[in-house]
Amino acid sequence: IKGYAIVHGFLVPKTLKITMFQKYWKFHKDLPATKVFAYGETKLTATVPGPSILVAQGVSTYVRWKNRLPSEHILPWDCTIPTPIPCKNKGGVPTVVHLHGGIDEPQSDGNARAWFTAGFQQVGPQWTKKTYHYDNQQQPGNLLYHDHAMGFTRLNLLAGLFGAYIISQPDLESPLSLPSGDEFDRPLVVFDRSFLTDGSLYMNSTGNNPNIHPHWQPEYFGDVIIVNGKAWPYMTVRRRKYRFRILNASNARFFKFFFSNGLTFVHIGSDSAYNERPVLLNDILLGPAEYADVVVDFSKSNSNSIILQNDAAYPYPGGVSVNENNSKVMKFIISGLPEFDPSRVPEKLFSYPTPSLSEVSKSRYITMYEYTNPVTNTPTHLYINGLSYDAPVTETPKVGSTEIWYVINLTPDNHPLHIHLGLFKVLDQTNITNIDVFRTCMNNLNDAEKCQIGKYAIGAKLGVQPYETGWKNVYKIHPGYVTKIIVKFGYVHTNASYPFDATAEPGYVYHCHIVDHEDNVMMRPLKLVK
Ligand code: C2O
Ligand code: CU
Repeated sequence: IKGYAIVHGFLVPKTLKITMFQKYWKFHKDLPATKVFAYGETKLTATVPGPSILVAQGVSTYVRWKNRLPSEHILPWDCTIPTPIPCKNKGGVPTVVHLHGGIDEPQSDGNARAWFTAGFQQVGPQWTKKTYHYDNQQQPGNLLYHDHAMGFTRLNLLAGLFGAYIISQPDLESPLSLPSGDEFDRPLVVFDRSFLTDGSLYMNSTGNNPNIHPHWQPEYFGDVIIVNGKAWPYMTVRRRKYRFRILNASNARFFKFFFSNGLTFVHIGSDSAYNERPVLLNDILLGPAEYADVVVDFSKSNSNSIILQNDAAYPYPGGVSVNENNSKVMKFIISGLPEFDPSRVPEKLFSYPTPSLSEVSKSRYITMYEYTNPVTNTPTHLYINGLSYDAPVTETPKVGSTEIWYVINLTPDNHPLHIHLGLFKVLDQTNITNIDVFRTCMNNLNDAEKCQIGKYAIGAKLGVQPYETGWKNVYKIHPGYVTKIIVKFGYVHTNASYPFDATAEPGYVYHCHIVDHEDNVMMRPLKLVK
């Protein structure tokens, strides 16, 4: 659906009404319909994932997000992790919508505590308004909207509350001559789920440490791979180029995509922006909430039927290997004769300046911790900087400033870090030597400078892949490494300042995008200051 209207040939702001409904959704013809939560303009047209929203750069979109969900969730919630509604409350499902990757006012950012239940009967302490405003001033890119309610994000996403949101600028993008239009430019929203034979969503609802958290599991993994709402689908394509905006919409699963016959991807952009130049790839690793914007040329395929596959271990990178089911994503059936294809991939896409280090006004150390139960040896919760979400805000960047964040991952797993408002570039990834010594110090002092991170961050470097050097809003933080990123709290394509007051309440957040971690509570407030 379009987030703008065309009046006398001009694009003008539009107000959309998008509602969350409980309904039944067919994931596969051989599976009974599944009870889901779905976004849509009407219950009949509501889908999983929600409708893709296409907006024009510079033209505002207003969305009235409405909750018409029943009083109880379709999945068991865990009231021992920070949730807004007391246990046994049957007063509705808390929801709030975040436009992921959006540069938007705090009141429209979908703060975790700005939740609301059906008919706005109950609202969270940070709730401010019913209709959200998206400026869409930022550079063209691939965003997504999804639920963000405190302690419910993993469940609301599992139930189906997410969708693609694409900012385009036809005047700038058409001259690139990339594959375009509804037929040749398509989002592929990929996620994993498990089902019971009656069609209902299956999640293991016994916690890994049930005495502490009766239902919380550190990661949700499903065996069925869903693309655009269908399990292991196929798409019939013509013998020409297509553009796919591939989004990993899983809670916790990483995907490493590749084609069964070695066909390549031309990577042109990621989550926040186009690359400067296209990058030819055999495989693409995507953490939750990352996008790969790629062009695939089916005229180069040596077979008429090819499978898009996955071989990322789960949890990533040290977990189990993929199996027969979750290694398959979807099939492409190539039909017809070779045809004239006017689309192309230009050698240069868009370049946006990288801020120089002299512009950096502040450096921060951001440390990822996992706490395990010594008896079960499995995680009980995860924190950033050793702090729960409720602890007073510690990250207070200035509006328009540029900062360096050293993100230290002391856990055994990769955590996709996502920052609201700010966009960033990955500069460097350095292995932490003697990490056990450093970790012991951090467990005592929780201060990377006092623990002399500089003495430990001297190990091998992990190169930043060429396709990941552009502006991003989420990036995979490798275990045992310090990842250095440069974050800009301003636009990256212009020096213009934000058209809104970024310092307003309720502020922003940053967090791990394994949403099972985010809920318990690998998330911290982020408050912009003047
Ligand atoms: Cu995609 Cu704060 O989230
Ligand atoms: Cu995480």
